[in-house]
Amino acid sequence: MLAQPVVRLASLADAGAIAALSRDTIETGLPWTWRPERVANAIRDPNTNVVVVGPREALEGFGIMIYREDDAHLVLFAVHLAKRRQGIASTMLLWLEDVARAAGCRRIRLEARRDNVAGRNFYSEHGYHERAIDKDRYHQGVDGVRLEKWLQSGTPEPSPDA
Ligand SMILES: CC(C)(COP(=O)(O)OP(=O)(O)OC[C@H]1O[C@@H](n2cnc3c(N)ncnc32)[C@H](O)[C@@H]1OP(=O)(O)O)[C@@H](O)C(=O)NCCC(=O)NCCS
Repeated sequence: MLAQPVVRLASLADAGAIAALSRDTIETGLPWTWRPERVANAIRDPNTNVVVVGPREALEGFGIMIYREDDAHLVLFAVHLAKRRQGIASTMLLWLEDVARAAGCRRIRLEARRDNVAGRNFYSEHGYHERAIDKDRYHQGVDGVRLEKWLQSGTPEPSPDA
């Protein structure tokens, strides 16, 4: 049986490995925008949690979540290709959802590429709903999908930005 992944908060020393994993697993075919300095700024930001699984020299996965008023935004999220289907993403997502709940967030929002079947299936398994398609969101011909999950019971209010 595989050991349960251990989620930890990233330190500044993880910024380079996180940026490289973003370049190789999320920003493929797109300009590389999450470079080490931008990741380091996210790690420093008090309204952002950057979490990782695995040692710095062999990072297995990471997630970046920003808290804005009562919304949380999962900005970047990935697992190393060689480490997929072992529950690493699920463990990180549950960790981030628990923190968002504890922080009083009512909803988590995120975007994925429309052609990202694995990501869309993963989020669907975790109770995320697809709200809208954004044409050419990432690049000409690369559409996005907006997803969200309500964390607390009650009737969701329509979001003005959706
Ligand atoms: C999406 C991603 C984060 C999933 O990571 P992971 O650690 O493999 O996910 P888990 O092992 O926790 O998977 C949980 C469930 O999600 C679903 N799932 C995950 N990968 C899937 C795939 N390739 N195809 C279909 N379903 C998938 C399955 O239901 C899976 O459960 P199972 O393995 O028991 O069938 C990973 O594929 C990844 O990093 N992709 C590239 C970056 C990305 O798409 N990020 C998210 C959008 S920004």
